Amino acid sequence: MKNKYFDLIEQTFEFPNEEFAVVENELMWFGIPLMDIIKQYGTPLRIAYLPKIGQNIQRAKRMFNVAMAKVDYNADYHYCYCTKSSHFSFILEEVLRHNVHIETSSAFDINIIETLHEQGLLAADTFVICNGFKRPQYIENIQNLINCGFTNVLPILDNKFELDLLLKDFDKKLQVGIRIASEEEPKFDFYTSRLGIRYKDIIPYYKTHIAGNDQVELKMLHFFINTGVKDTAYYWNELSKAINLYCELHKVCPTLDSLNIGGGFPIQTHLDMVYDFEYMAEEIVAQIKNICSKNNVPEPDIFTEFGSFTVGESGAMLYSIVNQKKQNDRELWNMIDSSFMTTLPDTWAINQRYVFLAINNWDSEYERVNLGGLTCDSEDFYNAEVHSNAIFLPKMQYDREQYIGFFHTGAYQESLSGFGGIQHCLIPAPKLVIIDKDENGEYFTKLFAKEQSYKSMLKILGY
Ligand SMILES: Cc1ncc(COP(=O)(O)O)c(C=O)c1O
Repeated sequence: MKNKYFDLIEQTFEFPNEEFAVVENELMWFGIPLMDIIKQYGTPLRIAYLPKIGQNIQRAKRMFNVAMAKVDYNADYHYCYCTKSSHFSFILEEVLRHNVHIETSSAFDINIIETLHEQGLLAADTFVICNGFKRPQYIENIQNLINCGFTNVLPILDNKFELDLLLKDFDKKLQVGIRIASEEEPKFDFYTSRLGIRYKDIIPYYKTHIAGNDQVELKMLHFFINTGVKDTAYYWNELSKAINLYCELHKVCPTLDSLNIGGGFPIQTHLDMVYDFEYMAEEIVAQIKNICSKNNVPEPDIFTEFGSFTVGESGAMLYSIVNQKKQNDRELWNMIDSSFMTTLPDTWAINQRYVFLAINNWDSEYERVNLGGLTCDSEDFYNAEVHSNAIFLPKMQYDREQYIGFFHTGAYQESLSGFGGIQHCLIPAPKLVIIDKDENGEYFTKLFAKEQSYKSMLKILGY
């Protein structure tokens, strides 16, 4: 009878695959025996597998460049990394090894850029695309960056007031972009995004505020849809509206030469996720080319700002099951040794699902469980996957350890949970370990941060 955890996974998914395999009933992730990592560092444990970052960057670059070659596209593709998805130094250092540009969202991002530049890791001609609503410190930092010799700083106007602020007490030439306030998906809470400037206001705004000003040059039109790059009528409709606007704007503004299509390439949230990246890249590029040709407008350089796609699949969270509670005849609660709310806040906030697998005991029979976090918050649980309204684990046995892993958790979770800050119910931030490969392809690990101590939390709390 096929009733083992291994059978369940093998029957549910294409398993093993390039990323996951099982050797002697234990999970390997990119060829790394996770039980070895757990034996060395314990749980709860956050891990970052750096080689995956470069693989994804190169993959996107390749796809867009191939798509451009197929339609004989006469401009370039620029990959930007959206820093807000993970600001850690080791992530930015890895990202920058792959020749990318940067997108920022607030003032302190610019301090990171300066630091990386001082360390010789980021060149002064890197595109720094500055998004976000700009408060005085952000404006000042952007101006400083340009004054220090950065040649491709590109503030994206989020509203009609920012340009005046950027030009105040500033005498250098300024290149800017304008963000389109996109229409939200029909089922959303409101119609138009609060981010950016309304479609119909953009050309009049350009004519009255930028066209006659020699100090400013409009270079980029920025378009981003928070539901991501999806093969839906909504996405293609919004994209084509943005390209048409680009063409209309170009006719009155010849300096405009770049279209930024934002972030939103997806990552795998369950093992069978199907997404045709090549098709999407080809279709985007072909649409831009077609609409520009129809309008007799030269095709723009294309910028993307992928966050999740760059770092999401490099991250994982490992926990152990500390005990099992049976709260009625049917519901089993496997308690983890940390909290979902504090370590994977998107599971609680937006019902985010991740690739979820047992790490050991794959030869055991399985059972349906709910996973409970250690906070006393009833919302601190995880009990469904994308493809199924249930989760399963090897049957609990009290004489052995059970470890579990959530994969592709590398984007947004640390900053949303305030890594190293105050945590719900004071559950400490977990250890963070970096995994990389040496020149022989052998993996090695490095402890980046120990588990948060009570002292660090009490200090923040004023004790
Ligand atoms: C302007 C902008 N660019 C890029 C991104 C990154 O999106 P993702 O992580 O989905 O690639 C975001 C995310 O909110 C964004 O607001």
